[in-house]
Amino acid sequence: MPTIRVPAPVPRRYLVCEPRHFDVQYAINPWMREDAQVDSALAGRQWETLIRAYRDHGHTVENVTPVAGLPDMVFAANAALVVGGRVFGSYFHAPQRQPESAEYEMWFKAAGYDVYRPESLCEGEGDLVPAGRFILAGTGFRTTREAHAEVQEFFGVPTIGLQLVDPYFYHLDTALFVLDGTDGTGGPGGTGRTGGETAAANIAYYPEAFSSGSREVLRHLFPEAVIATRDDAMAFGLNSVSDGRHVFIAPQAVGLIDQLTSRGYVPVPVDLSEFHKAGGGIKCCTQEIR
Ligand code: ARG
Repeated sequence: MPTIRVPAPVPRRYLVCEPRHFDVQYAINPWMREDAQVDSALAGRQWETLIRAYRDHGHTVENVTPVAGLPDMVFAANAALVVGGRVFGSYFHAPQRQPESAEYEMWFKAAGYDVYRPESLCEGEGDLVPAGRFILAGTGFRTTREAHAEVQEFFGVPTIGLQLVDPYFYHLDTALFVLDGTDGTGGPGGTGRTGGETAAANIAYYPEAFSSGSREVLRHLFPEAVIATRDDAMAFGLNSVSDGRHVFIAPQAVGLIDQLTSRGYVPVPVDLSEFHKAGGGIKCCTQEIR
């Protein structure tokens, strides 16, 4: 294996939503059980730990005001995809979540952004992941192929559709995350990552969450990807946030943490176990404003 020089961390701007009204009140993915008991106080403490970890590592964190009756609003990632200050909003699959779009839109407008409203079902960074030269776009459970076309047209960035096949990994960000290269620098040189047909970014993912054709695409674009096991994926290990060096990751994803460490990344374990009951983890709680 080539020696990989991990690039310097890039300070990020994150938008989050405090879990004041977080709960499991309906079941729209296999992780959610209507009889689930959420420990609200613990959820609050876990979330605060994540926010503190971001700030301690030099990142900026901004807050959307949570709204009563929208228990999944804490999952800020689903509300939009923001690249180069352009905001592609959301259109949620589940009627219970649809009112979240307007709440986030209000925040973006107040912060000085225009918001594009998709015509097709689209769940923001849940299914849309900028990775170097491309936007990776999941479909199968939530975001539609039609939305991928809208994304490509809106950003003018080649958008690669990836078919999700396992209901436990219903959003792309539960099965894949970007380690580095999202800042446009193309990651470290000398690894083949910047050349040819590769994506100029590196990722970690769980192959079995994807159709065989999509797996082939990922192999081709990310020859140096970190391959996660099902156990690590089921522990929400791929629902992680990386700043290029530090990886904010579920402590339960022990194998993946070891792999990242041996590649030179610095895992920062943050336990969001209460949020796993809703099918969400670290990345779900984090919208990156690029
Ligand atoms: N309960 C939420 C849903 O099913 C969880 C969303 C998780 N967010 C994410 N980015 N994967 O919609």
